[in-house]
Amino acid sequence: MLPQNINLQGKTILITGAAGFIGSNLVMELMRRFGHNRIVGIDSMNNYYDVQLKKERLKTIEANDTKGQFTFIRGSIADKSLIADTFSKYLPDIVVNLAAQAGVRYSITNPDAYIESNLIGFYNILEACRHSYDNDQQGVLHLVYASSSSVYGTNKKVPYSTDDKVDNPVSLYAATKKSNELLAHAYSKLYNIPSTGLRFFTVYGPAGRPDMAYFGFTDKLAKGETIQIFNYGDCRRDFTYIDDIVEGITRVMQHAPERIEGSDGLPIPPYAVYNIGNSQPENLLDFVSILQEELVRAGILPADYDFDSHKRLVPMQPGDVPVTYADTSALEHDFGFHPSTPLREGLRRFAQWYATYKHYGYKS
Ligand SMILES: NC(=O)c1ccc[n+]([C@@H]2O[C@H](COP(=O)([O-])OP(=O)(O)OC[C@H]3O[C@@H](n4cnc5c(N)ncnc54)[C@H](O)[C@@H]3O)[C@@H](O)[C@H]2O)c1
Repeated sequence: MLPQNINLQGKTILITGAAGFIGSNLVMELMRRFGHNRIVGIDSMNNYYDVQLKKERLKTIEANDTKGQFTFIRGSIADKSLIADTFSKYLPDIVVNLAAQAGVRYSITNPDAYIESNLIGFYNILEACRHSYDNDQQGVLHLVYASSSSVYGTNKKVPYSTDDKVDNPVSLYAATKKSNELLAHAYSKLYNIPSTGLRFFTVYGPAGRPDMAYFGFTDKLAKGETIQIFNYGDCRRDFTYIDDIVEGITRVMQHAPERIEGSDGLPIPPYAVYNIGNSQPENLLDFVSILQEELVRAGILPADYDFDSHKRLVPMQPGDVPVTYADTSALEHDFGFHPSTPLREGLRRFAQWYATYKHYGYKS
C-alpha cells in the first residue's frame, strides 16, 4: 500500500463536472465522510443529456449539505479566466477534474465539444495548477483527473494494463483522454504537479447517464420500443458500479505521487495512471438478460414482457470497441482496493431508482 500523504479533512477540494454522474456522487461521499472540508463544484450544465437530471443531482447535494460545505459555480472549464479566478479565490488543495464531453458516438457529430471541454478545458486546469505555486504558495497538492478505458482502443491483449501501449485510439473521445494523460505528464515533469489519471471502465448506477446503454435500453423497453444490441451481442464490457468508482477516487485523492528530484536536479514527474474497473467483463447478451430480470423485479416491466420481440442484433458502430477488461492489480496493490459490486446488485439498485424516477419529469 502507498502511504497516505494527504488528509482530506479541512482541505479545499475543487471538483469539475460536479453536477455529472460521477462528480455528484463524489461530492456526496466527501461531504458524508469529511465534515470539515470545503468543496467547490464547477459544471457548465450543458444539455448533452437531460439537464433536469443534473439539476436534481445538485438539489440532492444541497439537501445533504447540512454544514454549508458546498459552493457551486456554473461555468465552463474552457473559460480560462473563470478557472484562473476560481483558483485564486478558493486556493484548492486538491483538484478532481471530471468535467468532459463524454460519449464515443456523439464525437462523430459534435467533435467541437470534445476539443473545447476535454482539451482546452483540461489545459486550463493544468495551467491553473501550475500557477497555484506562484509566489511560493503551497498550491495544488494533487490533481486527479478522469481518463477512460477507451484509450485501450481495440487492443487485443486482455485484461488491459496501464503498462500496455495505448497509441491507437479509435474515437476522438479516446484521443482526447489519451491527450489528457500526455499533457498531465508534461505538466507534472515541468511544474512538479502531483497528478493521477484514472481510466474508468463503463460506470453505471442510479441517476446515471441517460446516454449509456443500460439507461437507454431501460428507457426504450419501458416505452415498448426495440433495443439495438451492437456487434450482434458479441461485446464484453467491464461494468463498474458508481460506489466502487467513488471509493476508488476517494482513496486515490489521499495518495499523491511523491515529488522526487532526479540526479539532474529536475523533478521526476510525480505522475501516475490507474485503471478502475470491475475486472469481470460481462457478455452484452448476459448483461441485457440481467437488466431485463431486474426491470421486471422493480415493476418497470411486466413479468410476461416479450423481450425477444423488443431486441434487434445489429453490426458494430464506428468508434466502439468489442471488449473492455481492466487489470486492477496496481490499484489493489497501491490502495488495497478493487471494485467488486456484482452486476446484478448494481443493476438492481439502478432499476429501483428508475422505478421512482418519474418525478424527474424525464419519462413521457
Ligand atoms: N461514466 C463512465 O462510464 C465513464 C467512463 C470513462 C470515463 N469517464 C469520464 O469520467 C468523467 C465523468 O463522467 P460522467 O459519467 O460523470 O459524465 P457526466 O456527463 O455525467 O458528467 C460530466 C459533467 O461535466 C459537465 N461538463 C462538460 N463539459 C464541461 C465544461 N467544459 N465545463 C464544465 N463542466 C462541463 C457536464 O455538464 C456534466 O455534468 C468524464 O471525464 C468522463 O469522460 C466516464
